[in-house]
Amino acid sequence: MVLRPLRSVPPCDNAKLADAWLEQLGAALSDPRCDRSVLCRNALAELAYPDYASNWETAVEDSSLPLATRLALGALDPRNVTLEPEYYSDCDDARFQRVKPLLWLWYSFDRTVLGGQNVWLGVELRRVLARHIFKRCGENFKAFQHVEFSFGYNLEVGDNVVVHRHVLLDDRGGIVLGNRVSISDYANIYSHTHSIVEQKDVTNATTVIEDGVRITYHATVLAGVHVHEQGMVGAMALATKDVRPYHVYVGIPAKSVRVKPNAPQASEILRTSRDRQGGD
Ligand SMILES: CC(C)(COP(=O)(O)OP(=O)(O)OC[C@H]1O[C@@H](n2cnc3c(N)ncnc32)[C@H](O)[C@@H]1OP(=O)(O)O)[C@@H](O)C(=O)NCCC(=O)NCCS
Repeated sequence: MVLRPLRSVPPCDNAKLADAWLEQLGAALSDPRCDRSVLCRNALAELAYPDYASNWETAVEDSSLPLATRLALGALDPRNVTLEPEYYSDCDDARFQRVKPLLWLWYSFDRTVLGGQNVWLGVELRRVLARHIFKRCGENFKAFQHVEFSFGYNLEVGDNVVVHRHVLLDDRGGIVLGNRVSISDYANIYSHTHSIVEQKDVTNATTVIEDGVRITYHATVLAGVHVHEQGMVGAMALATKDVRPYHVYVGIPAKSVRVKPNAPQASEILRTSRDRQGGD
């Protein structure tokens, strides 16, 4: 293994523009009177349909424009879009409608020319939005492109958390991410599950990922699982049960293959969910 810390990259020529845009968005969102749907619509129109940004209201009604163009313009406003969680009976509509415009801006930005793989700007924008979406968002939150949530408002995030591309954070039953957690590409973290008999029978259970945990590439953590401090879920693993602190779990279902060499005394780390509940 070779230590390869990230190197610094000089800012792009348009960094000042980007800073000013982010500041404008951040200031607008900090104003409690902000109409978040209009803010989202304006931002997306300016990014994707600049010719219609200043006359959006008349353009969507303009019968001389192709129907598909009017539909696409309409979809810049989150009120014209339905997101999957809106169908869930356990979705708190009042809370979801507050965050929906920001989720729509987040997801849509990732599909624009400006967004997606544009690392610095994407990370900064998502940081601005996350503060107004999540239940709690710590310092230095870093999310790459195409991360998806269920409700967004049921997610607690500690300091220095990194979420890589194409991660699903299903916070329907709640997800708590501790400090310095890293979620690798294409990982899935769930907090709801369905009965094997009746699909409509849904159980929500908070999933907890403690400080220093790494959920690695393509791994899945099921609802209600508690991944303890410094635990690691290996590539492609399926964590169906709690992961012990400092242990490395791999496979389906995930099992411990080793204890990290930096782990403290075994007696302190070999805890299971049963131990926590006082069982055998
Ligand atoms: C979890 C991981 C770090 C384990 O690495 P390790 O501690 O060096 O473990 P080893 O390679 O010694 O493997 C131990 C055993 O588990 C198996 N194993 C390792 N990773 C596995 C995986 N993801 N799935 C299934 N089995 C795995 C090995 O084949 C080996 O089995 P064996 O004893 O029968 O030969 C590594 O497999 C992994 O998933 N890496 C993901 C990449 C990564 O680091 N991502 C972080 C990005 S933030």
